Amino acid sequence: MSGMKIEIDGKAVPFEEGDTIMEAATRAGVYIPHLCHNPEFTPHGSCKLCTVKVNGRNCSACTFPATDGQQVLNDTKELNDTRRTITQMLFVEGNHFCPSCEKSGNCQLQAVGYFLNMLDGHFPHFYPQRCVDASHPDILLDRDRCILCELCVRASRDVDGKNVFGLSGRGIASHLVVNSDSGLLKDTAMAATDKAAQVCPVGAIIVKRHGFEVPIGKRIFDGQEISDWSLEREASEAGE
Ligand code: SF4
Ligand code: FES
Repeated sequence: MSGMKIEIDGKAVPFEEGDTIMEAATRAGVYIPHLCHNPEFTPHGSCKLCTVKVNGRNCSACTFPATDGQQVLNDTKELNDTRRTITQMLFVEGNHFCPSCEKSGNCQLQAVGYFLNMLDGHFPHFYPQRCVDASHPDILLDRDRCILCELCVRASRDVDGKNVFGLSGRGIASHLVVNSDSGLLKDTAMAATDKAAQVCPVGAIIVKRHGFEVPIGKRIFDGQEISDWSLEREASEAGE
């Protein structure tokens, strides 16, 4: 240990040179809500759910480096209210109709909504009509559930070595594209066993013929909060 520390909500948290605030917090058992962060991949910084106050300024914990003596606020009403608003915006921007979605109970967006006590969408729904790609024999891509976290892009490029996905368009027209001449998944080398098929935090990339397999009560977030699940999973991934 280096002896360097930050404080998160008054708790002393040690960190190593090069750590982000998120990495130091996770190791110390402090949950910072997040969706686009996954410790297996380079931080992306798009969802802004991990916004914390660092020495009085808002920063993304997943990309902001820890430095000795930082005062970090994480679990405050103001920050959690903002995180709830961000989650509501993600819900209304897509078609997140949980009762008919096979990812329900195993979905990190839904679980973060529960964690933040999100009771409604608050904003008017956009009801987008983005192209569903069901061309692949084993994988379904439903862009209306995509939160543009880029985890599949990173997994396909950096782990699978296939570079199947990319983001295209600007602003509200941003969407996930498939890097094949036809633009269809069936014309890529993607397989259901690829990391990119496993990493989606929501119900946008689904392995076919496995929907609704797990009974209610046994799904990941039926029995535990996303805070405990994330800390356990991410500490073990970091080799703690
Ligand atoms: S398909 Fe899933 S993993 Fe890929 S960008 Fe959308 S939400 Fe993220
Ligand atoms: S988890 Fe930090 S911006 Fe998404």
